[in-house]
Amino acid sequence: MACEIRELQEFQHKHGDIIEAMKKMTLLGDMTPARFLREYWHKKPLLVRQAIPGFKPLLKRDALFDLARQDDVESRLITHFDRHWELRHGPIDKTPAFSQKEWTLLVQGVNLHQDAADRLLRQFNFIPDARLDDLMISYATDGGGVGPHFDSYDVFLLQAHGQRRWRIGPQKDLSLVEGMPLKILKNFKPEQEYVLEPGDMLYLPPHYAHDGVAIGECMTYSVGFRTPHYQELGEAFLQFMAETIELPGRYADPELTPARAPAEISTAMLQKVHHQLQQITFDAADVAIFLGEYLSEPKPSVFFKAPARPLSLARFIEAAGKRGIKLSRKTHMLYRGKHIFINGESFTAGRAEQKPLLLLANQRQLAGDALATASSDVLETLHQWYGDGWIELG
Ligand code: SIN
Ligand code: CO
Repeated sequence: MACEIRELQEFQHKHGDIIEAMKKMTLLGDMTPARFLREYWHKKPLLVRQAIPGFKPLLKRDALFDLARQDDVESRLITHFDRHWELRHGPIDKTPAFSQKEWTLLVQGVNLHQDAADRLLRQFNFIPDARLDDLMISYATDGGGVGPHFDSYDVFLLQAHGQRRWRIGPQKDLSLVEGMPLKILKNFKPEQEYVLEPGDMLYLPPHYAHDGVAIGECMTYSVGFRTPHYQELGEAFLQFMAETIELPGRYADPELTPARAPAEISTAMLQKVHHQLQQITFDAADVAIFLGEYLSEPKPSVFFKAPARPLSLARFIEAAGKRGIKLSRKTHMLYRGKHIFINGESFTAGRAEQKPLLLLANQRQLAGDALATASSDVLETLHQWYGDGWIELG
């Protein structure tokens, strides 16, 4: 048995890329990720019939509603009763009757709370982790939806249960109805219409107008992406720089002459300060550290669950060697060169340390034998992450 497992691991190791590519191809029908990115990503919609053949919902309706009740889960309830749109933010304790038409419950970040949802999201990893956002699940009664709108990011809409009619269009007029609690397009002009069955998937580029309406009870899974505003990045970068800069010394003016206009800021003062502030420079390495810390920062609602009775370092090393380790569903781990980022923190790894950590970041798990050669620094760091709930034993 042990021998078979080792053979399987060796096979997976040797043919890992092929296995990964096969998995990725399944999601996009017979299209390779390279062709999808070249021809469709950010450019035009793609409908994939039976992207996941025989797909079944990963969690039942009741489990979804239980999540919506939690205050660490982002959820929304949207009703469209008597042609009137209403939006309520979660936690959602009470929903309208299932027999009532035209309402929908949306639960964000389900991947943070359920392994199967996390695995589904990770199947989209032909797109870098730094761009992947979350898996949202919507439940709707007959006629339910969020109205005709557009999103500023790409989205994969996977039908999980029941049917949904999507009407979509490339319209340029993205003006919205004023005074609405949600984004509703004023002049929606759909050009195509598709009815999606469980397992079918529709990709839409950013700003592509769409309206999905449930035909009977339905559940739709949306895989969304992060598209930070440059303004938001710029402001966060300046905050990062504020903690990084070093400008020694104080303002001094030994050459001062008597002031003729005491309220005026002198040219000499302006030039001196200007010169000093020009010492604040940054390069690509500063941007890399900022970006890694910023993008790996968990959302404010995320809390890690530390083990109730954590193992000592020695016991942890022994258990990890046997069972391997994996990143918590909530952990963001990225890297750039020798800089490793995890949950908003960064550090520099030496050459020997990089190998297991980069493997862990890319695969989100590490087999026990990959830890056999890990340095004591790496093992101590992993033990600390385990104590924080950032990684778990496999
Ligand atoms: C939904 O699942 O109802 C909405 C998804 C979307 O339109 O982006
Ligand atoms: Co949308």
